[in-house]
Amino acid sequence: MGVGLHDTFKTMPKYLVTGGAGFIGSHLVRALVERGDRVRVVDSLITGKRRNLDGVEGVEFIEGDLADLEVARGAVDGMEIVLHQAAIPSVPRSVKNPIESNRANIDASLNVLVAARDAGVRRVVYAGSSSAYGNAAALPKQEDMATGPLSPYALQKLVAEQYAAMFTRLYGLETVTTRYFNVFGPRQDPSSPYSGVISLFISALVEGRQPVIYGDGGQTRDFTYVANVVDGVLRASQADGVSGKVINVATGGRVSLNELFQTLRDLVGSDLEPRYAETRAGDVRDSQADITRARTLLGFTPQVSFEEGLRRTLAWYQEEAPAAVRA
Ligand code: UD1
Repeated sequence: MGVGLHDTFKTMPKYLVTGGAGFIGSHLVRALVERGDRVRVVDSLITGKRRNLDGVEGVEFIEGDLADLEVARGAVDGMEIVLHQAAIPSVPRSVKNPIESNRANIDASLNVLVAARDAGVRRVVYAGSSSAYGNAAALPKQEDMATGPLSPYALQKLVAEQYAAMFTRLYGLETVTTRYFNVFGPRQDPSSPYSGVISLFISALVEGRQPVIYGDGGQTRDFTYVANVVDGVLRASQADGVSGKVINVATGGRVSLNELFQTLRDLVGSDLEPRYAETRAGDVRDSQADITRARTLLGFTPQVSFEEGLRRTLAWYQEEAPAAVRA
């Protein structure tokens, strides 16, 4: 029994990545596997794709919906660290179907926290969202500023991060929220109208379709290349003195939609003009992170610039994206 138990322990996964077949989750999984960590993934495949983990060896995969508490309990069993990335990550999709996204973004998150607490997980790192700030007047957005969610998605992400902090206070479960700002990169799926804007612009320009800009294109975002997010999250999973805290993970820059469009058009070598349409309901005007806290508490510095990130994303789309994505 002794030897068997020991062997079982050695092979037990350590990190659970919820939403590990999604865009950001799959980057985290690959980074963990590359550095030799054991990884388990749970994903409902509502927005995730099995193909995002193609070629990744040795990952335990559970297909299941965390809105079911038993799935959450099974997934966290034996884990030390939970990187909770699973969500339905779209403002307009939440405006259209708030109940569906509430279930994925709040019910499932509460289940993960309860299951993690009961299973003795060491730390949960929760994927928060810059949308929580809403149209707060001041820029850049600092973690202690008042929040002001403008969409069901923003509210749901905020509720779940507050649940996480409350679990730290009430039950002593270590939690950290990393607030993401408009993450982009390879494997972001452009196939839905709810997809992130960079994936939509790249696919349209490469395929010779006219991209749509909602509003006047003057709205700004702190577009963050996914490798920077992976670095921030992995630091947050280990750092001391961060439990119960919210930490922006971004670049600290600000680019308008019009500037984004021009930069991508030049990179692709296209002469297409955008089509302007009405501003989307629930849209934030300006978003830019203050990353002082990440620098101080996590030793975080963005490693990949916006421009370099765009080049890498475009290269992936042109050279490596599966036909299903390019079609
Ligand atoms: C928001 C959150 C982000 C979150 C994401 C999940 C903010 C500031 N950011 O991103 O933290 O992770 O939701 O989806 O709230 N747009 C176009 N044309 C398109 C598509 C989008 O002009 O074809 C515009 C949108 O109207 C918006 C901007 O591009 O102004 C970015 O949109 P999108 O990529 O969907 O992300 P956000 O809604 O900003």
